[in-house]
Amino acid sequence: MSQLSVKHLLGIKDLTKEDIALILATAKNFKEVINRPIKKVPSLRDITIANVFFENSTRTRLSFELAQKRLSADVINFSSSSSSVKKGETLLDTVNNILAMKVDMIVMRHSSVGAPHFLARHIQANIVNAGDGTHEHPTQALLDSFSIQESLGQVEGKKVCIFGDILHSRVALSNIYALKKQNAEVMVCGPNTLLPRYLKDLGVKVELDLRKALQWCDVANVLRIQLERQTIKYFPSLREYSLYYGINKEILDSLNKEILIMHPGPINRGIELTSDVADSSHSVILDQVENGVAVRMAVLYLLAGGVKN
Ligand code: CP
Repeated sequence: MSQLSVKHLLGIKDLTKEDIALILATAKNFKEVINRPIKKVPSLRDITIANVFFENSTRTRLSFELAQKRLSADVINFSSSSSSVKKGETLLDTVNNILAMKVDMIVMRHSSVGAPHFLARHIQANIVNAGDGTHEHPTQALLDSFSIQESLGQVEGKKVCIFGDILHSRVALSNIYALKKQNAEVMVCGPNTLLPRYLKDLGVKVELDLRKALQWCDVANVLRIQLERQTIKYFPSLREYSLYYGINKEILDSLNKEILIMHPGPINRGIELTSDVADSSHSVILDQVENGVAVRMAVLYLLAGGVKN
């Protein structure tokens, strides 16, 4: 198989196991390319891509832009804070005006759940979801799987625990879909108030005790507390959260086992992870960022190639 089953990458939920395997295998080739002295290939030379960001981003936006440039695409960047959205222009009008400039593909981050799915019903260009509210962040989950595969040889059969604010996390939901589709075992760990009720329907284990969860897993994917999405208080204070759910070197050393520490960023150092864990030999956090470029190159390249018939 050399083509995806989807026209857009809206979420991992829509991908098949074969789609995920194809993206990860293609990313492996692109990782080799971006580590060469000449890091560019002409694969998307005639394609124009717009990065349309309605929400802040460091890693995703820069990594998509770099991926596009490595593939020789033409790139334009849109940020809502400096745009005519401030004058009342709608999402659809904004995107249709960008497409009128002969743009072929839209990479979009939006704070509203389902914004890219709405666009997909109204426009012809390929859409890549770069994060929609608390819903999905598919390329983050793909780069996380790529990083697990790279470090541990395979995703299948691995025990992966996602720690922290699961309720507000698009990274958590996309990872759960991606890991389950690849036959990994998945657990979530955090305060009860930050664990959504639908988790058991997804076949995910739930553990409230940080030490028990760390003892169980091969991979700890640690999330930050998304205070900007919380409208009520879910725990008494960040200090208390850190006391019960912060991972520090003393806890890791007491486990006496190999464990992979991952984090999608941005890290709130001293809250969910101490610096001596984030920067330790267990951590593959910066490898995840490097892999993000290769994985996004793979997604853009495969979407540009069309849908499997
Ligand atoms: N992981 C991630 O989405 O980071 P940014 O918000 O910086 O893009």
